[in-house]
Amino acid sequence: MNVLVTGAAGFIGSNFVFYMLEQHPDYQITGLDALTYAGNMETLAPAMTNKNFHFAKGDIADRDFVFQLFETTKFDVVVNFAAESHVDRSIEDPGVFLRTNIIGTQVLMDAAKEYGISRFHQVGTDEVYGDLPLDRPDLFFTEDMPITASSPYSASKASADLLVMAYHRTYQMPITISRCSNNYGPYQFPEKLIPLIIARALDNQDLPVYGTGENVRDWLYVEDHCRAIDRILENGKVGEVYNIGGHNEKSNLDVVKIILKHLGKPESLITFVGDRKGHDLRYAIDPTKIHNALGWLPTTKFDEGIKKTIDWYLANEAWWKNIISGEYQQYYEKMYGGR
Ligand SMILES: NC(=O)c1ccc[n+]([C@@H]2O[C@H](COP(=O)([O-])OP(=O)(O)OC[C@H]3O[C@@H](n4cnc5c(N)ncnc54)[C@H](O)[C@@H]3O)[C@@H](O)[C@H]2O)c1
Repeated sequence: MNVLVTGAAGFIGSNFVFYMLEQHPDYQITGLDALTYAGNMETLAPAMTNKNFHFAKGDIADRDFVFQLFETTKFDVVVNFAAESHVDRSIEDPGVFLRTNIIGTQVLMDAAKEYGISRFHQVGTDEVYGDLPLDRPDLFFTEDMPITASSPYSASKASADLLVMAYHRTYQMPITISRCSNNYGPYQFPEKLIPLIIARALDNQDLPVYGTGENVRDWLYVEDHCRAIDRILENGKVGEVYNIGGHNEKSNLDVVKIILKHLGKPESLITFVGDRKGHDLRYAIDPTKIHNALGWLPTTKFDEGIKKTIDWYLANEAWWKNIISGEYQQYYEKMYGGR
């Protein structure tokens, strides 16, 4: 089996590469990544010595590059993680999100259509369902809900999902789509809530929390997400969408407080800042379909996952300190400086 993993030098893509190399020692995995600010070759270092892993640097929206790659390697499966993934950045500059997340997906599917594959898996997000009210804990996102994206990021991911569905209907492309809730775990770029809070709390810096911190997210340990995608590749039905999440809702403020408790740091570090524009209130996945159809359930409880994550950031300071020096400082000032 020859698998192309795009976005392989990012957070979930790299974890998926490690997972697949370990679970399927007979697979050949090619990691593709443009190495944007979010992609890092240091992340892929553990895979680079594996004879079953190959890396290709390039842009999924670059048609010549993508077609050349498909010409030289006969892929059976494509798993598309490559994306601009940070909502705040999409509010500042939507254009690059549309190019990578929509056009990039189209280019990959065109190549897959031209050269033939047995599966194109699109890694989607629950953010395409918009948000749920805070006072209706009985409501959850199901696969048949309408798409009502709130941010340029989620609109670009929703567009990609629609395009993937259209390629299935029009060209009989063998696709599957997964829509996952918020992930956490090793190798997440420290602009996202959990690693941002860990890195700043360790340095006793103020911890920016949007609005009142009440916004609720449904957290999933990254390895559980990787296992769900592997299940979908093996037994998922072509043309289907699967929601991935584990009924693990927490408000942003609660997540910050849990991290502070683990690190033995004071809650006085918390600083409420002006809210994100269009900030979604609550995300919550109903994972009944993937559970019933594929027997998938998350195995890592939040208490265990957050401890593993914090321990990883403590043991890998060089990885994230390298990232938060330089350009990232300017980004942080721009996003949180005057709020
Ligand atoms: N992080 C989450 O909580 C979450 C939840 C649900 C779905 N997702 C989806 O999972 C996927 C991966 O998310 P992540 O958190 O790992 O993101 P990330 O930002 O950490 O990684 C994205 C990777 O894609 C690469 N990339 C960006 N533009 C590219 C391009 N034009 N060509 C090739 N590579 C490019 C980047 O260099 C980076 O390595 C995304 O599609 C995202 O929408 C993420």
